[in-house]
Amino acid sequence: AADMFETGALQGKRVVITAGPTREALDPVRYISNHSSGKMGYALAEAAAAAGARTTLVSGPVNITPPERVEVVNVTSARDMLDACESRLEECDIFIACAAVADYRPADVQEQKIKKGPDDMSLTLVKNPDIVASIAASEHAVFTVGFAAETQQVLEYARGKLERKGLDMIVANDVSSQGIGFNSDENEVTVLWPGGEVAMPRARKSTVAAGIIAQIAMRQDP
Ligand code: CTP
Ligand code: CA
Repeated sequence: AADMFETGALQGKRVVITAGPTREALDPVRYISNHSSGKMGYALAEAAAAAGARTTLVSGPVNITPPERVEVVNVTSARDMLDACESRLEECDIFIACAAVADYRPADVQEQKIKKGPDDMSLTLVKNPDIVASIAASEHAVFTVGFAAETQQVLEYARGKLERKGLDMIVANDVSSQGIGFNSDENEVTVLWPGGEVAMPRARKSTVAAGIIAQIAMRQDP
């Protein structure tokens, strides 16, 4: 894998990477979100740039200094993220969906702060668009890579998502294991594609990112 970086395995390629969580507003001061740190997406952006790719991060709210030579587009909600990705599709050869997109958003966003009222209240949520599936289904020829964070039947569920979303590759990780995934500095993943899969050893996210970028570079059309 080290060789691929010295030769610029992604030289001339344009890569768009989603990272971090999304925030789905309830009212002017409240939102629904998740604990994604964005570390894996930012590590991938750094590795893609190091491999010679012109790299754009479409990032939800995170607390990370962006890597050098990476363009960052900041977004808040899933719908903002989809718009930002779609508007860059013409200039994109490889799309990597690393963001922890909120699956649902509040059906209505209140214009004023919601006041405390009865003891019980419920929220109506509606499904957000599936960003990676919609990029994979678009007519642009983009090599599309997803992530699958699972707590059980990791490889089966990941391969199901690869097929259902029409992806070229998916990176599976078991978020039930200690010390890897969401907020940690390490990760342990298996990379799957329609014709095979490869497990990567547990390592720092920067090392895992370099391994994933090497796999992506290897599976590009010449
Ligand atoms: N994803 C996306 N847009 C969404 C939801 C997910 O682009 N609205 C992407 C993620 O960035 C990831 C992949 O889809 O690359 C899989 O996300 P995941 O949450 O594991 O899968 P879901 O399809 O949302 O299914 P579930 O959460 O029920 O497991
Ligand atoms: Ca999800």
